[in-house]
Amino acid sequence: MAKVAFIGLGVMGYPMAGHLKTKGGHDVTVYNRTAAKAEKWVFEFGGQAAATPAEAASDCDFVFTCVGNDDDLRSVTIGENGALSGMKPGAILIDNTTASAEVARELAEAASAKGCGFIDAPVSGGQAGAENGVLTVMCGGDLALFDKARPVIDAFARMVGLMGPVGAGQLTKMINQICIAGLVQGLAEGIHFGKKAGLDLEKVIEVISKGAAGSWQMENRHKTMNEGKYEFGFAVDWMRKDLDIVLSEARRNGAALPVTALVDQFYGEVQKLGGNRWDTSSLLARLEKK
Ligand SMILES: NC(=O)c1ccc[n+]([C@@H]2O[C@H](COP(=O)([O-])OP(=O)(O)OC[C@H]3O[C@@H](n4cnc5c(N)ncnc54)[C@H](OP(=O)(O)O)[C@@H]3O)[C@@H](O)[C@H]2O)c1
Repeated sequence: MAKVAFIGLGVMGYPMAGHLKTKGGHDVTVYNRTAAKAEKWVFEFGGQAAATPAEAASDCDFVFTCVGNDDDLRSVTIGENGALSGMKPGAILIDNTTASAEVARELAEAASAKGCGFIDAPVSGGQAGAENGVLTVMCGGDLALFDKARPVIDAFARMVGLMGPVGAGQLTKMINQICIAGLVQGLAEGIHFGKKAGLDLEKVIEVISKGAAGSWQMENRHKTMNEGKYEFGFAVDWMRKDLDIVLSEARRNGAALPVTALVDQFYGEVQKLGGNRWDTSSLLARLEKK
């Protein structure tokens, strides 16, 4: 059993922290900006809530963060009363936010100056993956730190990989988002075409999902897409945040991402349709609007 802090009890963090307590059996202290969520968490799982990230992190062996973007992450780690100011030497900061590789390197340096370790550890698997404790976790950092952190991370994960040095976890998550962007647009176009052709879409998907075109998105989203329902997971606003990180990194490393850049613009159009909180399969709504 370890002493663990969890900062950021959103859609993802709330159940992830819950698994650290119930499945991992750890002594968990939580912090959330909106204190009511932290109180609700303690009522549901036990453990304790702290008033600041620094207070939550004090005396902990592992400190998890799962907030929105780079700036949110800076605020809860190196900002006023940030986690790092409360962490003891030897403790490890594990960040599950989807953020840039740059901020990961920045935080690794700040952690090192305090005698602490850092692992960037963004996740994939969505709300359902977090609730069921079966996330995929893509880590960047030193092997020795990873070996210490892995058994703790295991409480909310099905797959945990060390991808390379600090930043490699975030870079891997970027590849994940690149692959999803093009795929969802392809699926949206397929469904759009199928409807225009007057085919029975359920029948079409039943057959082609067993062939080379099959995908998780096809299996899990075709039905709701066909019904024009877009309330099933990862929001367009979050995807745009992620694609912005991806495209910035691509400008740095020289990768050509023409389809990803185009799909990012399409998501911009979905936002203009009022789809900020719709899930990423809402690319179809944009096609049907025309
Ligand atoms: N949702 C998904 O399916 C999914 C999947 C994979 C990865 N992710 C990534 O995981 C991260 C969290 O996503 P989520 O869906 O859990 O988001 P969310 O439900 O919006 O929760 C965000 C959490 O961060 C806190 N927060 C945000 N800005 C903050 C700040 N400046 N200071 C302090 N706390 C702050 C929020 O506190 P309040 O409660 O006070 O607002 C909340 O606890 C994001 O980077 C997202 O891209 C999400």
